[in-house]
Amino acid sequence: MTARYGIIGWPLGHTMSPTLHNWGFGQIGLDAVYKAWPLEPEGVADFIRRVRTEPIMGASVTIPHKRAVMPLLDRLTDRARTVGAVNTLYWDGDQLCGENTDVTGLVAPLRQLGQLPGSALVLGAGGAARAAVIGFRELGVPDIRIANRTPDKARAIASELSVRAVAWEARMDQGAGIVCNTTPLGMSGDLAQATPWDADRFEPGMIAYDIVYNPLRTRFLREAGAAGCRTVSGLEMFLHQGLAQFQLWTGHALDEGGARELLL
Ligand code: ATR
Repeated sequence: MTARYGIIGWPLGHTMSPTLHNWGFGQIGLDAVYKAWPLEPEGVADFIRRVRTEPIMGASVTIPHKRAVMPLLDRLTDRARTVGAVNTLYWDGDQLCGENTDVTGLVAPLRQLGQLPGSALVLGAGGAARAAVIGFRELGVPDIRIANRTPDKARAIASELSVRAVAWEARMDQGAGIVCNTTPLGMSGDLAQATPWDADRFEPGMIAYDIVYNPLRTRFLREAGAAGCRTVSGLEMFLHQGLAQFQLWTGHALDEGGARELLL
């Protein structure tokens, strides 16, 4: 019987996850299919029942369900508990487990850059910002700061995760070696021409990381690149969180280069 996988979210919109995972199943010759399942918040408990009974072999979880699924599972990984969000459901024997591969996805492209600067600044204070702070901590970046338009949210994350909150207005004065945008500024649509950073405030040697992947080169990344900074696109985070999911589900590591080419 064909094994079933998929992604839940609401509104789900366009997602590259089916492309990645269905290609992956083909690569390893697994009889499986991955679908997009738009799911309203009221439907989460029902969905988890379906996962258990049908069964569904694994699922990606995206906004707004990343927290809601947590109490419905048999086990959470330490990582998922620390991040406070689940983006992956998988089976360990007869236990339905929740993992978070967003941190893995965020960290992987930075590890590939080798020696990193000693300071990082996270812009935004939503779920992705939390994952970014935890990622930078795992990378051993000694000085981590967070800035958000609504300062209280940055302060809450800062005090919980023992990093420093700084004023949104002062974000470009921090001398940060890595700047990670987790806000929707620059995302296609109304915000496409927006950027969280002034073009003349990039310093050579900085790393500009945007978790936005639509468009692939946001204004933030284009201007950082033009100023001589290294840039990391949100596509890399997407790719690596997806490869980590695939490995959890199948035990197989997909070819990273092939997967990137597919998504591009
Ligand atoms: P996610 O879970 O994906 O991180 P989120 O929880 O909606 O998404 O967080 C979005 C972040 O982008 C928030 O920190 C938000 O700032 P506020 O806390 O002030 O709302 C930030 N953000 C959204 N639009 C913004 C804008 N126009 N300028 C600056 N920050 C913005």
